[in-house]
Amino acid sequence: MKRAQQHAIWGRRGTFILAATGSAVGLGNIWKFPYIVGENGGGAFVLMYLLCICLIGLPVMAAEVLLGRRGRANPIMAVGEVVRESRSSKAWGLIGWAGVVAGFIILSYYSVIAGWTLEYVTTAARGGFAGIDGHTASATFNALLGDVSKLVRWQTAFLCMTALIIMFGVTRGLETAVRILMPLLFVLLVLLLLYSAYAGDFLAGLRFLFSFRISDLSLEGLSLALGHAFFTLSLGMGAIMAYGSYMPHNTSILKTVITVGCLDTLVALMAGMVIFPIVFATPGVEPGGGPGLLFETLPIVFGGMPVGTIVGAVFFLLITLAAWSSNISLLEPIVAYLTENFRFHRLSASLLIIFLAWLLGLTTVYSLNHWQGMNMVAGMTPFDFSQFLTEQVLLPLGALAMAVYVGWFMKKAPLRREMKLDATHWFGRWYTILRYVSPVLILVVFLLGLFDKFAG
Ligand code: TRP
Repeated sequence: MKRAQQHAIWGRRGTFILAATGSAVGLGNIWKFPYIVGENGGGAFVLMYLLCICLIGLPVMAAEVLLGRRGRANPIMAVGEVVRESRSSKAWGLIGWAGVVAGFIILSYYSVIAGWTLEYVTTAARGGFAGIDGHTASATFNALLGDVSKLVRWQTAFLCMTALIIMFGVTRGLETAVRILMPLLFVLLVLLLLYSAYAGDFLAGLRFLFSFRISDLSLEGLSLALGHAFFTLSLGMGAIMAYGSYMPHNTSILKTVITVGCLDTLVALMAGMVIFPIVFATPGVEPGGGPGLLFETLPIVFGGMPVGTIVGAVFFLLITLAAWSSNISLLEPIVAYLTENFRFHRLSASLLIIFLAWLLGLTTVYSLNHWQGMNMVAGMTPFDFSQFLTEQVLLPLGALAMAVYVGWFMKKAPLRREMKLDATHWFGRWYTILRYVSPVLILVVFLLGLFDKFAG
């Protein structure tokens, strides 16, 4: 009965694409991608990232969607169901559990950062960026990071916004929201891109993003590129699995996954092409500026534009909304599990989880100021550690387990049935990459990354 209800949940064809794109496109694309590119040598990092998306991200994403659609339930129960069907070891059930833990931790810090965008919406709308230069922009951003009560207020607001949509169920709220927001975000990015091409040092920006020097390759960069490929595609923790479980049977998994992957990559590259030309044209702003990059460069652009107050406010609002649809996908699998397994009401499940995520998020808030010099593990603050644990450990391991499970342990008949709309040669190519290429690459990069972090 419950399964049947879930089955019917996506109202229209194409909603999976929108919802999955809503999940994928978020702070990872607009905030994180540009700054880790900036910190890791530009083009070389972009290349490693693109390879990770194609050889690992997309094949694993198809496997994750497939698991969800086959299991037709929340990630924990869906994996359990598929494992039962294939008569494999129950230990595979850990995929679902590790995912829930990873999702919860990401939810906790993601909401804090999304809170920064809310603050920037209000500052922009008040005309707070008018005529701002590089130094003032940095000072404004650092003042925000030092203001605990402001950070907590916005974190709380953002978590409440997330719970609100989840409470009403995913279909109505999310479906309508992404249908309008995603195209709008795209249009604004194009406009900003034109502006950046006109007012920034566009060639220097492009050169930085796309020119490749062997000497810029590093182990740390490779492991970050892999972690980011999972993060930006929302892979490895069950978010895509949960959305896949609402996907109708008459949709081709591979086509859908490729569409989502292309849209996500396009948005990330566009964000880079907006930000770097401005970075290179602004004295006092460096590409390796770290997490503040977006918040320190764009205000300068908006501050110098004739209608910058409106454009700035709208742009930060759209980033907030992109982060909103991503945060929803982090909360949804956990809430679905609590309601389906323990008969929680959606409302109480949402409130419980956002309260716990809020508590854990406080460690991120304090890492930005009072605990800035804290050395939790290997020189990391609790915020750094949360990011490391999820993006460099739990997501790659979750994705590895999914690839190995679907590639080697799932029976071929149900697999082929789920992929029946995909041409045989595409299925064959996907299956080969998923079995032989993705797991090996994930494992190698994962181990090298750990080595680099703790022994290097
Ligand atoms: N992909 C989102 C971004 O790029 C973040 C995100 C949403 C996510 N759901 C996820 C990351 C699940 C990992 C797992 O901002």
